[in-house]
Amino acid sequence: MTRRFGWYFIFAVLAAVFGIVGVSACDGGGSDDDVDELPADDDVDDDDDGLPENPTWENFAENFFQTYCVRCHQDPPINDAEFPLETYEDVLPQLTDIKLQAVVSDEMPADDEGPLPSDAEREKLGEWIDAGAPEN
Ligand code: HEC
Repeated sequence: MTRRFGWYFIFAVLAAVFGIVGVSACDGGGSDDDVDELPADDDVDDDDDGLPENPTWENFAENFFQTYCVRCHQDPPINDAEFPLETYEDVLPQLTDIKLQAVVSDEMPADDEGPLPSDAEREKLGEWIDAGAPEN
């Protein structure tokens, strides 16, 4: 066991040495441009779902309704929907029902012929509503 470990260790050291030499040999001038630094964006959650940590109408909800709801809940509504969900003012009076229909259950969208929100997006909508549906 110790012996095997020793060989792996030597191999790892050699690989590291040659790896470093190899990289610096190809680097030719050492430009930092090929290091892609991600922009520090406080609006983006650490959990990598790409959704804002503190959802607002402007950074999240408007886009959610546009993407998943407005193809029926437009102004005037079509496909038997009964109210529009296009503007912040449209959405506010419906928050309780929206939470029931699109967060607690997946009743809405009413069909599956268009894009459907992911579980993470539904949860984020719930967080937005629970936070008092801030506009910005
Ligand atoms: C394919 C068309 C369609 C889409 C897309 C759609 N809806 Fe609806 N929605 C309807 C129809 C039709 C009704 C009325 C009949 C019903 O309640 O099922 C309705 C009703 C509702 C109601 C009221 C339900 C009640 O019983 O009071 C809410 C709230 C709602 N929709 C929210 C949403 C939200 C949020 C989205 C987007 C995530 C959405 N809908 C997407 C067609 C749609």
